[in-house]
Amino acid sequence: MQIFLDSADSVEIEKWLGEGVVDGVTTNPSIMFKDRIYDVEQGARRLCALLGDRPVSIEVTTNDREEMIREARTFARWAQNVVVKIPVINEHGDSCLGVVNTLNREGILVNTTAILSFNQALLAAKAGATYVSIFAGRVADEGHDPAVVIRNVRQWLDGWGFTAKIIVGSIRTVMDIQTAAIAGAHIITIPPQFLPKMVDHKYTRLTVGQFVDDADKALKQIALAKVAAQ
Ligand code: E4P
Repeated sequence: MQIFLDSADSVEIEKWLGEGVVDGVTTNPSIMFKDRIYDVEQGARRLCALLGDRPVSIEVTTNDREEMIREARTFARWAQNVVVKIPVINEHGDSCLGVVNTLNREGILVNTTAILSFNQALLAAKAGATYVSIFAGRVADEGHDPAVVIRNVRQWLDGWGFTAKIIVGSIRTVMDIQTAAIAGAHIITIPPQFLPKMVDHKYTRLTVGQFVDDADKALKQIALAKVAAQ
C-alpha cells in the first residue's frame, strides 16, 4: 500500500519524504489555497520537482469539459509526474467520464476525483482512470460506511482485472487511515497533520525511556568496574 500526502505544503512534504514514507502527493484547489499557492503552474512545478518521479495530482479548475481537457493537456506538459485530477461529474451533474477517457487515450494519467459511491468508481475505472479517489470523510458525512465502498470497489477491480488504483482521501481522523488500509485501499492520501499522530504512542515513549535509562545505568556500572580494576 502507498501513502500520499494530501498537501501542497512543501516544508511538510520535504519532512515526510525524508522519513521515507511518501509515495506521492495529491492536491486540489482548496488545498492549494490553504497552503498559499495562488499560482497553480508555479506551485505544481515546484511540487513535481520536489517529488522526483513520484506522482503529483493537480486538479482542473473548471466545470467546462472542453476546458478541462485543455487544462489537463497544459498541466501534463509541466512535468512528467503530473497526474491530472478530473471530477467524476462537474458541479452541474454532467458526466466527466468522456474527459477521463480522452485524456487516457492521449496517455495522460488521470485521477478521477470526488468519488462518493461504488458506481462512480466502477464507471471511472471503465473510462480509463489510473486512480479512483474515494472521499471517505464525505462518504461518512452522508451516513454511509466508507469501508464498505472501498472493499466493494477493490473486490470489483481485482475481480475484473482493472488496473485502476483506489486512492482514499478526505481523511478526518487517524482511525479513517487504518479503516481504509484494512478495507483494501491501494493508496491513502493523508493530510500531514495526521502523520505525527500515527507514529507517536505515549507507552512507546515510556518504553524507550526505560531502555535509555537502563543503558545509562549499565554504562555507569562499566565505568565503576574499570575504576575498581585499576
Ligand atoms: C484528495 O485527493 C482530496 O482532494 C481530499 O482528500 C478531499 O478532502 P476533503 O473532503 O477534506 O475536502
